[in-house]
Amino acid sequence: MSERLEDIARAMVAPGKGILAADESSGTIKKRFDKINLTSTEDARRDYREMLFRSTDAMKNYVSGVILYDETIRQKAKDGKPLVDIMKAAGSIPGIKVDTGAKPLAGPTAKIETVTEGLDGLRERLADYYKLGARFAKWRAVITIADGCPTWNCVKANAHALARYAALCQEAGIVPIVEPEVLMDGEHSRHDIDECARVTEWTLRAVFRELYDARVNLEGMVLKPNMVIAGQKCAKQASAQDVAERTIKVLKATVPSSVPGIAFLSGGQSDEAATEHLSLMNAIGNLPWALTFSYGRALQAAALQAWGGKPENVAAGQRAFTHRAKMNSLAALGKWTAKLEKAA
Ligand code: 13P
Repeated sequence: MSERLEDIARAMVAPGKGILAADESSGTIKKRFDKINLTSTEDARRDYREMLFRSTDAMKNYVSGVILYDETIRQKAKDGKPLVDIMKAAGSIPGIKVDTGAKPLAGPTAKIETVTEGLDGLRERLADYYKLGARFAKWRAVITIADGCPTWNCVKANAHALARYAALCQEAGIVPIVEPEVLMDGEHSRHDIDECARVTEWTLRAVFRELYDARVNLEGMVLKPNMVIAGQKCAKQASAQDVAERTIKVLKATVPSSVPGIAFLSGGQSDEAATEHLSLMNAIGNLPWALTFSYGRALQAAALQAWGGKPENVAAGQRAFTHRAKMNSLAALGKWTAKLEKAA
């Protein structure tokens, strides 16, 4: 495959393909395993992810790349083959989470707001990850809607860090996934779709300003934003069509058309809602960028349940994963329907 940033970025958002976010940190994957009463050991994490990456049909046809965690990019399958080689054999590009997490942002909003860390030593870590096979990376910034939040201080600090990260990635020959996530799970009662639209637009404007200042090549990156959606605790929920239209409106106002693709996070939406929203957006059509998925929970929840940590359920887990990947592939083409969902 071509090693040019622009070609890798385009391959990541190729028609009908999207990204599997399997980069849960050890703390997060433990929380997921707790739900199926499974102890999070190194072997259990390997078995689970090996099951996903050996879902050949899904990996070949619907998944363009996988975001890995540091442990996984170095891990070997049960038969001794590096997991990275297994996904590469299926035609899927290995990626790596490189931020070291969202930490309290010092100041008056430290109990609510965070800034994502991980810039120190990043140049050296990227060189190491490149040798291990990574051709794209991810950095997640978190923006919280609450009384008086987000503050400009938080938006600015996170946008700046994203730009410094993206520039370092491109220097290393790695495509940056730029992920500014406006959370949908806030407590704020006025967190309706209008508020999400306002904060998402503000955040994306700040991010693209910083990317410009850092001379990031927009053709060699992928944006990973939230959808424009009401907060989970808001009484006033928007329709799926509203979510699609409002999201496109904000993206058109803020994302230059030189960006090849936008791969959404699922952010706590149900599996089916995340798929439906993506499909409705693509059905609108006439968009300057590819719109696809980079889901974690919405691609994995069903597979994790079906597997349940039991070797005899590997095939069932793979079936569940392949189904979700296929539904999201259809959504990336604007062709998903509830009928197709049920038919399977
Ligand atoms: P979710 O789709 O579960 O939000 O995860 C995507 C992701 O990579 C968050 O950084």
